[in-house]
Amino acid sequence: MAGFPTILVFDSGLGGLTVLREIVAARPDAHFVYVADDAFFPYGHHGEREIIARVVPLIGELIAAYAPDLVVIACNTASTLVMSHLRERYTLPFVGTVPAIKPACAQSKTRRVSVFGTKGTVQREYTKKLIEDFAVGCEVTLVGSAELASLAEAALSGNEVSDRDISAEIAPCFVGGSEDASARTDTIVLACTHYPLLLDRLVRLAPWPVDWIDPAPAIARRVSDLLGKPGHDVDNRGAEMIFTSRRPHTLSRALMPFFGGRVLA
Ligand code: DGL
Repeated sequence: MAGFPTILVFDSGLGGLTVLREIVAARPDAHFVYVADDAFFPYGHHGEREIIARVVPLIGELIAAYAPDLVVIACNTASTLVMSHLRERYTLPFVGTVPAIKPACAQSKTRRVSVFGTKGTVQREYTKKLIEDFAVGCEVTLVGSAELASLAEAALSGNEVSDRDISAEIAPCFVGGSEDASARTDTIVLACTHYPLLLDRLVRLAPWPVDWIDPAPAIARRVSDLLGKPGHDVDNRGAEMIFTSRRPHTLSRALMPFFGGRVLA
């Protein structure tokens, strides 16, 4: 690919930054445009038809405006619905973010895995099909959280989020008694890109230690494979951060590390 490839990373809010930071590390040669559809956040509270009707044309407008070489839908709530529509409609490559059920079930020793996402993601046919195809002898517990994506947004925006509120959201992921380590949940799929923003606190507040599966590194590898060999130069043009609400960019300093320190326009 000649010059710097442009990668557009899309989410309902700031959660997709957890995917972006892995892609930035894998492809320092790329130019990054991050779009937070915060005007429609949280996606987890919208119906399936509403999300398709919102995201598919919006991605078309973003393709026209930024001419990306590749688009990453860094949102499980959207990816579990829109990928086939996007591929039908637009010709460039798309990479989605869907629950990492296959690797989680492959590595669980107790065969108890929880899939932790928005209420929308855990209800999707797409998610049920992944379980049918890949759960192979695992008991999978679906846990839909109404609030954790909003709590993650609040925390990254510098607001106080209490341990009690986070603990209440994660509690249903922990199945089986804490006394018997061989029969309790040992693996939790982070099936919402917002949740890794709170990973330190999830680890600290967990009633017992588990493996938290974040698909972001695998997504970054997929993006890099699709783009082909990286160039040697690093893009010095800075990165673009777009909020669909057009809210002022008061968070730029806090968000820069996710962009590998690039200055945000
Ligand atoms: N970050 C999104 C996801 O991965 C969802 C958050 C929301 O908008 O509800 O599912």
